[in-house]
Amino acid sequence: MSHFCPAYPKPRKSRASALLMFFSARRSWLDALYERSYRMQMGEVHLPGLDLYMVNEPGLVRKVLSERAADFPKSALLGEALKPLLGESIFTTNGAQWQRQRDMMEPAFAQARLGVAFTVMRAATEDMLKRLAALPRGAEHDLEVEMTHVTADIIFRTIFSVPMEGPDAHRVFDAFARFQALAPRLLLPSIYGVRWLVWPWDAWRSRRAAREIRGLLEKLIRPRFEAHRNGTAASQVDILSSFLEARDATTGEAFGFDELVDQVAMLFLAGHETSASALTWASYLLAEAPDVQQRMHTEVCAQLGERKPEHGDMKQLTLTWNVFRETLRLFPPVGFMARQSAKTCPMRDKSVPAGATVVVAPWLMQRHRDIWPQPDAFDPDRYDDDQSRDALRQGYLPFGMGPRVCMGAAFALQEAVLILSSLIQHYRLTPVAGHTPQPVGRLTIRSANGVRLQLHRRAGAC
Ligand code: HEM
Repeated sequence: MSHFCPAYPKPRKSRASALLMFFSARRSWLDALYERSYRMQMGEVHLPGLDLYMVNEPGLVRKVLSERAADFPKSALLGEALKPLLGESIFTTNGAQWQRQRDMMEPAFAQARLGVAFTVMRAATEDMLKRLAALPRGAEHDLEVEMTHVTADIIFRTIFSVPMEGPDAHRVFDAFARFQALAPRLLLPSIYGVRWLVWPWDAWRSRRAAREIRGLLEKLIRPRFEAHRNGTAASQVDILSSFLEARDATTGEAFGFDELVDQVAMLFLAGHETSASALTWASYLLAEAPDVQQRMHTEVCAQLGERKPEHGDMKQLTLTWNVFRETLRLFPPVGFMARQSAKTCPMRDKSVPAGATVVVAPWLMQRHRDIWPQPDAFDPDRYDDDQSRDALRQGYLPFGMGPRVCMGAAFALQEAVLILSSLIQHYRLTPVAGHTPQPVGRLTIRSANGVRLQLHRRAGAC
């Protein structure tokens, strides 16, 4: 059976010069890849002030991210570019500081909280369906806009227990969009060790957006922080409450105010940018694979009929899970992860010096020619096939691996299955003639020209 193969930047035949590679990567790091990138076990790029090693071999990836994670902390360069917004957040810290934050944040993501989060997710998804219902029938729509809205709303409600409405919430949302658009222009020169190439105007606009976001988040967090300190806080089951209650196991201290704002800003960014990217690509893949979409509709109808989804339904929607897993393989929102080697380390026939940047790229691992059969094809059924077990073990890491594995993975999966099943319960998605989304590697994998689809409202849900 032939499967739909979504377009992606055609890799160069051979490796470009390091300089050309850098300038290509400024637009999208996917443009810097060449054919062998999808076959090689390990590669390297050297520029003045930069030693960069790309690791694809499954054993080495495990070593970097898991077995010897302490020797490969998060790259300081990544932290520098994101610091104006995220400060000392868990996403960029290392060592004891990171471990303390991870321990204090873990309870907010415990399995038991997923049921509570489901109610919040469903309310935001219902609002999404209302927004879609207000569109003209059969309208062409940029799904990226809607998926960003619904996922931002979900994480906002999960953190603060209020929907993302009103002027302040919309200013946070707009300022985040500006920060995200500027982030790659700051990140790439940082990773390539040529920070002097960052335009001062871009750096200034990014810092201004970060200040605006933090100012607005502080306004929301301050009253809850004070109330908690004074013992007058209302009882709420949300992420902010969990963070306010968290205590350092050794000192018994709570998060300070600035550190709390850092974690909330990071969660808002990590918690919606990634999910929005994956859900947009999933919608596109379903529109281009009508047979899969039809089977998914049959599954959703058999499980839900016309009624609203319940928490217990989620596990039963197995094809929907596989559609999302396959989307995460083809379009991993976090396309690469950057680490810094703490000491000189032998890898294959190379000696990776201390201070070198070591990159693991789910984008490459999950399309690796030696790991996956038909690596570029959209085939959600591959996960029912025993032969895929090996590929999954060796080359599937959309949520990372090891001690720094994504804290929100279960949250993101539940949210995605709910949103996708609700969308397909009510709408048939079709592609827009002549429009092919162009994947670009920015903060996450997004489309340079949006993801426009036609939404056809189904007469009855089933
Ligand atoms: C499809 C959606 C998502 C994907 C693909 C994703 C992917 C990832 C990846 C790959 C990492 C590890 C980065 C690294 O090791 O360098 C990560 C870390 C993280 N993610 Fe996610 N993520 C998603 C959604 C979420 C959500 C919804 C939340 C929160 C509600 C979240 C919270 C975090 C946090 C807190 C970390 C940092 C963990 C640490 O450094 O200890 N993520 N995510």
